[in-house]
Amino acid sequence: MSFIKAAAFAPATVANLGVGFDVLGLAVGEPGDVVIAERRDLPGAAIRAIENDGGKLPLEAKKNTACVAAESALRLIGAPAGVWLTIQKGLPAASGLGSSAASAVAAAVAVNALFGEPLPRGDLLPACLDGEAVASGYHPDNVAPALFGGITLATGLTSNQIHQLPVPEKLHLALVTPDHAVPTAEARAVLPPLIPLKAMVTQTAMIAALIDALHRGDVAAMAHFMMRDGVVEPARAHLMPKLDEVREAAREAGALGLVISGAGPTLCAICETQRSAQLVAVAMKAVYDGVGMAAMAYATHVSEEGARVLSTE
Ligand code: HSE
Repeated sequence: MSFIKAAAFAPATVANLGVGFDVLGLAVGEPGDVVIAERRDLPGAAIRAIENDGGKLPLEAKKNTACVAAESALRLIGAPAGVWLTIQKGLPAASGLGSSAASAVAAAVAVNALFGEPLPRGDLLPACLDGEAVASGYHPDNVAPALFGGITLATGLTSNQIHQLPVPEKLHLALVTPDHAVPTAEARAVLPPLIPLKAMVTQTAMIAALIDALHRGDVAAMAHFMMRDGVVEPARAHLMPKLDEVREAAREAGALGLVISGAGPTLCAICETQRSAQLVAVAMKAVYDGVGMAAMAYATHVSEEGARVLSTE
C-alpha cells in the first residue's frame, strides 16, 4: 500500500556522552523535527518548504540533509515516484542537539512510510547517514539514536554495528541551549588530528567504565565517567559560552555531572530524579540570563522510541 502524504518525527539527540566521541549517543523524548513527504510525479526529492529555521537552512536539494536522506531512501526503496518535502524544524541548527540528523532521519522515515514501509527500520540507516554526511561527514552517533531510540553505541556504519545499551531507570537529563551557533565543522576543525598513546589508553578505559555503569544502572558512575573525556572537551571548551559556570551551577543545583552535547553549545546535565533535572535546568538557564544571553532549558529523559511515523493519508 502507498499513500499520497506521510509525516514523521525524529527526536533531538545527545551525541558523544562526553567520552564517546562519534560512537555514543542518546535520544530524548522532545523536542525534534517533523518532515512531511508528499508524492510528486518527477523522480527524486525537492523541498516544498522549511518552517521555523529562520531562513538559515539550504533549499538546494543536494545541500539539505533531509533532501539527501529522502533521495537515498527513494533509491533504496526503488520508489516509482519522487517526493516533495516540508521540513518543520523543532531544533535549532548548529546547537549540538543533532538537528541535521533529526531532519535526515525524519525524512527517510517519512519517505518509507509514504510507500507503505517496504524497508525495515535498520535498512534506512544508510539513507540517514547520507543525509547527515552533508552537514558533518559520516558518523552515526546522532543518526543512530534518532532512528532507533535509547542509548546507542556505533561500532560502524551498518545497522548490525549499532548496539542498544541499557537505559538506567533513574536517568534524567537537563539540557540548556544558549542562543549561539557552533557549526559542527568548526567544532571538529579544532580537534587534534593525533592524540598521545596515554590519552588513548585513558579514553578507552573511561568509555569501557561508562558502558559498565550503564549496565549496572549506576547514574552517578555514568556521570563521572562521561566527564572523563581528556581529548575532545579540552579542545572545544573555548567554543562553549560559560561552560565552567554552567557546570558549577548545575552541580550546585544537584546535577551529578555535565558534558557538552554533541559538538555544542548545548550542555547536558546528568540527574537522578525529574525534580532534580527541573531545578538544574532552571539553574543552568540563570547563568545565561545573568549575562544577557538568550537560552532554552528543559528537563527531559531518554526516549526508547526514536523516530516515529505521525500520519499517512
Ligand atoms: N560526534 C559529533 C561531534 C557530533 O562531536 O563532532 C556532532 O555531529
